[in-house]
Amino acid sequence: MKEFRRNILITGGAGFIGSHVIRRFINNYPQYRIINADSLTYAGNLANLEDVKDASNYIFVKADICNFELMQDIFHKYNIDSVIHLAAESHVDRSIKDPFAFAHTNIMGTLNLLEAAKRTWKNSEAVNGEYRNLFYHVSTDEVYGDLDFDGTLFTESTAYDPHSPYSASKASSDHFVRAYHDTYNLPIVISNCSNNYGSHQFPEKLIPLFINNIRHNKPLPVYGKGENVRDWLWVNDHARAIDVIFHEGKIRETYNIGGFNEWTNIDLIKVIIKTVDRLLGRAEGTSDNLITYVTDRAGHDLRYAIDSTKLKNELGWKPSLQFEEGIEITVKWYLENQKWLDNVTSGDYQRYYDNMYRDR
Ligand code: NAD
Ligand code: TYD
Repeated sequence: MKEFRRNILITGGAGFIGSHVIRRFINNYPQYRIINADSLTYAGNLANLEDVKDASNYIFVKADICNFELMQDIFHKYNIDSVIHLAAESHVDRSIKDPFAFAHTNIMGTLNLLEAAKRTWKNSEAVNGEYRNLFYHVSTDEVYGDLDFDGTLFTESTAYDPHSPYSASKASSDHFVRAYHDTYNLPIVISNCSNNYGSHQFPEKLIPLFINNIRHNKPLPVYGKGENVRDWLWVNDHARAIDVIFHEGKIRETYNIGGFNEWTNIDLIKVIIKTVDRLLGRAEGTSDNLITYVTDRAGHDLRYAIDSTKLKNELGWKPSLQFEEGIEITVKWYLENQKWLDNVTSGDYQRYYDNMYRDR
């Protein structure tokens, strides 16, 4: 049997970002065995990993991170030495409707993994300056709260100030991860990334939802006045940052990941409309009338903007794609993968979606 140099547990690997991270690690590191643990919620889809599912260094385990016994079994059975933890409930609107699910998965699920790692990795001390174990927690810039329109940016030392149940649950999980280092010496690293865009994102999030709606001439629900600002990063650039931090990040450090790429929602929506109309051969302006201003999201964060200077200066990472190019690739992918969209938007999600917008 082949000996692998590392046995890496990646949680949430069937989701949007997780599937890009899994693909990257399977293809770039044949010397590592990748164990993907995902419970396949509405947001997890094995079709996202169709191209790598038979790789000899890949194992999928359908598993809920909230099941502590099962997490312990996975650590023992696969001799897990490192974790890249992405599994989470990730949609702010859902967190407003059902905060318990977010506390359960994002806080208790993370705590289960930390405890399983702590009990399995009895001796996590560095040997010759190298750690054999690593617990890498993937987090979000939303833990920092929001910013005014004053040009300030979130840095690694910005105080936590989450506003939504989603960001509060992620903030709490970040605190637990640091506490496990400070109390038990667990080797940890955390990154906080801005909004991602790219292929395989579940179409409840702004960009894939709007591309799909434009194609089908459905209304585009813009929350409030569309003035809120997000800092958008191509998902493959996030996966590459995770790769760099996993290999070269310093224990107990935090790294912000972002593209210095701020857009108001309404300006971004106009770019998406223009791109979809052009790629579908429609005259410019055809879909402008789909824009529909709706009641604002409760507690809607005004502006996110990440300062990723530390990651650039210390580990040499920077975004690879210009936004215009990334959006073009992304819109094309959704237009060419209607079957994927139909598949993931059937069943449970469709029922949820119907309820969600009934009162708007
Ligand atoms: P996603 O919702 O697309 O995927 C989440 C995955 O986790 C799914 O495959 C789902 O099945 C799995 N999952 C959920 N609950 C689980 C459980 N209890 N046990 C096992 N698996 C479970 O999310 P995403 O957008 O890919 O985000 C991944 C991570 O990155 C999250 O931790 C999120 O907070 C963080 N993040 C996301 C963004 C973004 O823009 N999407 C930005 C920064 C950070
Ligand atoms: P989203 O993709 O849900 O990411 P997040 O809330 O984590 O930033 O939303 C991005 C922005 O788009 C956010 O300001 C909310 C807004 N938005 C809409 O205006 N309409 C929508 O239907 C959705 C899903 C989001």
